[in-house]
Amino acid sequence: MVLVPLHPSKAGPAAASAAGNSDQAIPTKPLINLLRGWPAPSLLPVDQLKMATADVLADTGVVVDSLQYGPDSGFQPLREQLASYLSRIFAAYGVPNDPERICITGGASQNAACILQSFTDPAYTACVWVSAPCYFLMCPIFEDSGFAGRLRAVPEDDQGTDVKALERGFKEFESSPPSEPVYKNNLAPQRKAYRHIVYVVPASSNPSGKTMTVSRREQLVRLARKYDALLIADDVYDFLQWDVPRADAVLANKQTSVALPRPLPRLVDVDRMIRLEEEPIEDPKSSRRFGNAISNGSFSKIVAPGLRTGWVEATPAFAYGLAQTGSSKSGGAPSQFSAATINVLMRTGELDRYLQEVMRPALQWRHRLLIQAYEKHLSPFLELKCGGLPTTDSELPTTYGGYFLWFKLRRADWSAAAISKRAFAQENLVIAEGPLFEVKGDEAGAQFDDHIRLCFAWEDEAKIEEGVERLARVLRNWDEPEAATDAPQAGAGDFK
Ligand SMILES: Cc1ncc(COP(=O)(O)O)c(C=O)c1O
Repeated sequence: MVLVPLHPSKAGPAAASAAGNSDQAIPTKPLINLLRGWPAPSLLPVDQLKMATADVLADTGVVVDSLQYGPDSGFQPLREQLASYLSRIFAAYGVPNDPERICITGGASQNAACILQSFTDPAYTACVWVSAPCYFLMCPIFEDSGFAGRLRAVPEDDQGTDVKALERGFKEFESSPPSEPVYKNNLAPQRKAYRHIVYVVPASSNPSGKTMTVSRREQLVRLARKYDALLIADDVYDFLQWDVPRADAVLANKQTSVALPRPLPRLVDVDRMIRLEEEPIEDPKSSRRFGNAISNGSFSKIVAPGLRTGWVEATPAFAYGLAQTGSSKSGGAPSQFSAATINVLMRTGELDRYLQEVMRPALQWRHRLLIQAYEKHLSPFLELKCGGLPTTDSELPTTYGGYFLWFKLRRADWSAAAISKRAFAQENLVIAEGPLFEVKGDEAGAQFDDHIRLCFAWEDEAKIEEGVERLARVLRNWDEPEAATDAPQAGAGDFK
């Protein structure tokens, strides 16, 4: 991966070649990257992490454990912190304060690979169904686990993943009855192969920004139970939700404190609640004990991606089975030192303070800046699909979250890939073109060359509006003859 410099003050190749003469010294626009889905460097909790790592290293009761190999299920104090934290946040849904439901992971991506290792068999599991548009970097993880050519896009509608389309897909595989797991006869009894995997981002999806309704969540879980599917829910934006102040609210700056709005039940909560209703006594031999939905949590977006730490919440049987994945059996769950550090952030209340006073206010404010810039410069060209500012008479949801906004091109003859190329060549601006979010290998699945995604988390505030102005200039001048350019093509992966 080619990393874009954080402070690209020097002339970039795009500017020189866009001007048609690379010999002249040309004043260059600094690169603006509205593709990258990382937290802005200015938002990283450096001081809090200094305190927390110093605390771990100075604590004679913790330091050795934190630096040694650890338990398969992860650093126990963090499992306990998480169980207690999640049971408080999701108290309305009766979430038990039970560390046995938690397994520490190396973050959502690493853990998706572990889930596939322990809970699928490519000779038994039919497909990985991916809600589309999708977080594109999950596709290679599924492919690496034996599902290349067997990723299937499931469209989204206003409520979230289209369950009718999903059921039609499941039914295609009913006529070819499953054999027993073939390659992996070592899974039982602690693990099992599911017949289907379904990958979704129920809250503030990347890229669409949509949040799945509660009734859709329930339909999805019931369907998963009927067809022996495992729902992998990337719940990575659950704590990055905020109330959206109305469009006419006069705000001069970001708020100093932004509380988490009341969350919806996660798929793992819905699954547990349905099981409690329908199967009050769990048969320890039933494959039902693993459940049909797991919450794939991550500290990447709420503390720092470099920590590479996350967690799973699931049934105790699933959480235990996951910890039996070979790579965790060898030396314990990943990210032991990071887990110990995060445990301090949670125990001292620093994580909550940071989310409340830094991260959510910043994202809420940047989201508003991007929308206002869109309304000023881009609305003739793009239609905002989700996440607008409510007005007195609008029915728009009053909460939003995550890092992204998703737009549809208004002109039918436009291609997002062509726009992205021209934006880079002419304006040194990187945007995410819709095709990036298509499900890999499913050419018959939903196509998105009429969409783009803009991220408001990475670039600092002033650059957000400037990026929007640059994009508007590209679109306004679209029908002008294009200057010849030998600018290097921006590969989206280069700027992730
Ligand atoms: C939906 C989704 N899942 C997972 C990730 C990556 O998570 P992690 O850093 O924990 O692997 C991202 C990052 O952009 C994401 O948007």
